[in-house]
Amino acid sequence: MVKVVFEPDGRRANAQNRETLLKVAQRVGIAVRSECGGKGTCGKCRLQISPESAVTPPSQAEIKHLTAQEIQMGYRLACQTVITGETDIQVMVPPESRGTQRRLQVEGITIPITLRPAVHSVFIAVPPVDPARPIPDDERLIEQLHQYYGGKRGYWIIPLHVRRKIPGSLRAAFGHVTVTLWNKRILLDVAAGDSRNNQFGVALDIGTSKLVASLHSLVTGKLLAVAGLENPQIRYGEDIMSRLSFAATDPANRLVLQNLVVDSINLLLARLAKEATIALDNVYELVVVGNTVMTSLFLGLDTKHLGYGPFTAPARGPFDVSSQALTLSLPPQANVHVLPCVAGYVGADAVADILATRIHRSRKISLLIDIGTNSEVVLGNRDRLTACSCAAGPAFEGAQIEHGMKAVSGAIEQVTIHPNTLEVEVNTIDAKPAIGICGSGVVDAVAQLAEVGLLAPQGRFIEHPTTKLLHDQRGKRFVLVEGGNTEVSQSPITLSEYDISQLILAKAAIQTGYKLVLDQHQLKPSDLDKVFIAGAFGNYLNPASAIRIGLIPPVPIKRVTFVGNAALAGARLALLSRTHRLQATRLAKSVQFLDLARHPDFNQTYTSSLFLPKEVLG
Ligand code: FES
Repeated sequence: MVKVVFEPDGRRANAQNRETLLKVAQRVGIAVRSECGGKGTCGKCRLQISPESAVTPPSQAEIKHLTAQEIQMGYRLACQTVITGETDIQVMVPPESRGTQRRLQVEGITIPITLRPAVHSVFIAVPPVDPARPIPDDERLIEQLHQYYGGKRGYWIIPLHVRRKIPGSLRAAFGHVTVTLWNKRILLDVAAGDSRNNQFGVALDIGTSKLVASLHSLVTGKLLAVAGLENPQIRYGEDIMSRLSFAATDPANRLVLQNLVVDSINLLLARLAKEATIALDNVYELVVVGNTVMTSLFLGLDTKHLGYGPFTAPARGPFDVSSQALTLSLPPQANVHVLPCVAGYVGADAVADILATRIHRSRKISLLIDIGTNSEVVLGNRDRLTACSCAAGPAFEGAQIEHGMKAVSGAIEQVTIHPNTLEVEVNTIDAKPAIGICGSGVVDAVAQLAEVGLLAPQGRFIEHPTTKLLHDQRGKRFVLVEGGNTEVSQSPITLSEYDISQLILAKAAIQTGYKLVLDQHQLKPSDLDKVFIAGAFGNYLNPASAIRIGLIPPVPIKRVTFVGNAALAGARLALLSRTHRLQATRLAKSVQFLDLARHPDFNQTYTSSLFLPKEVLG
């Protein structure tokens, strides 16, 4: 047994011989970035260790990702470094490797709504028991419900948890009780007195990278609290394919992924309740959206066949499951409603996006792009909608970019290159000293480099006497922030040709998606009346830069609308209105699924998208 001390937190862990430092860190809750899921390909899990004799020598992956000088200084990749000796180890987790609290996109669009939630409560008076004719408590209660609503006598479903509460509640307030029902049929609660105002519900978006939830009053629809968290499954891979392959290797792994997400949801629920000062006992419904992989893992469905073509979803849904079945910290009988998916990876989040943007109600032609690790593209109007999913990967989250990082304090989010002087100006989140560059910053930098003529369409730098290009064993890199001006080290923050190629790959995936759906509808970008951009970093994106690199089709900027977390906004609609919930079920069946992987023009379109547009009209 070896002791490992993680600095600067000073957290200690007992570790076994042959354990990797990444495993030890994850076990004790130290957030170390691991975008590739520990495969040694992302190079983000770097740590500084001492003594080096206590671990295995540097692997090929470490030699690739670390310079000789860094290795000499004790830098190692946590996922590659295996404990070998009996000596205690000191580990420094540098700022760039920490999975710090990121800026979460929690706002969605606000849509006026007629409240029609599935959860509804009534205040009734149940007569006391007649000693001459002692009718059981539940039957007297049902008789009153029957009088209130009508309907058949055997109509009501009373779960055991609720049945247990009935005798006490009836006697606590002289028969006056609040009965909370789901779809006017299943009893969720019987509480003494009038608690009709204490009915709450939560909307939740399980994203590949993050979870965002909002708490609402089901009586007024009012938003009471919002909270977000990293998706902890990230430690098993930033992209859904890594997680699917982890889940497929052993059924127990599926449970690991399910438990991780359930634990985080419980944490989110506790935060929401605390912020709104309500009791979780009064949260009667949770409405969940996410892509097909996220919702399937949450429900513990068999995801094996989602991992390879034709990427078959285990079930479409919608699902209504008790909170108890999912071990959530809500009342056991609270309902968990998971919106249905379309097909493949086009999941409930895309359905929620459509609900929120109302493109299914409009005569105008809209394109919706939900940018994320797994991105969705939807095109059409009220007559016809087509959707596809694009494996953009985590480049927009800063992964695979050498100095890339998530949108946290100190990340460069905006880059301007003066066209005459070629001087570079950067803006960072919270105006903190730069520690890296986030997705919107990378998009900006690449667009600016192309715009001032320093970048060829293939993503290669064009030499210019006044530009700051560094040449090293990893190729050419453009200096965004000089060394000594950064918080991390004396090294400059740069953007390399390799980084740019990663961004181009990610945008090519999305560009292929929108080009092929446009083809499917025989439309051109100029036919688009509206372009909605949703997702984690949509609101921070400069639309002109996004158009400049081809991430968004060339349309006049005024046609582009950022809708933030539209998936969460759609989940809210489904929470507060059964009409929208039914609409979601219809949409999941009526939206046409475009399977890009099997599309005959996929390869050609993708190859032609691996370039930056020469010029942009719009
Ligand atoms: Fe270690 Fe990616 S290189 S987690």
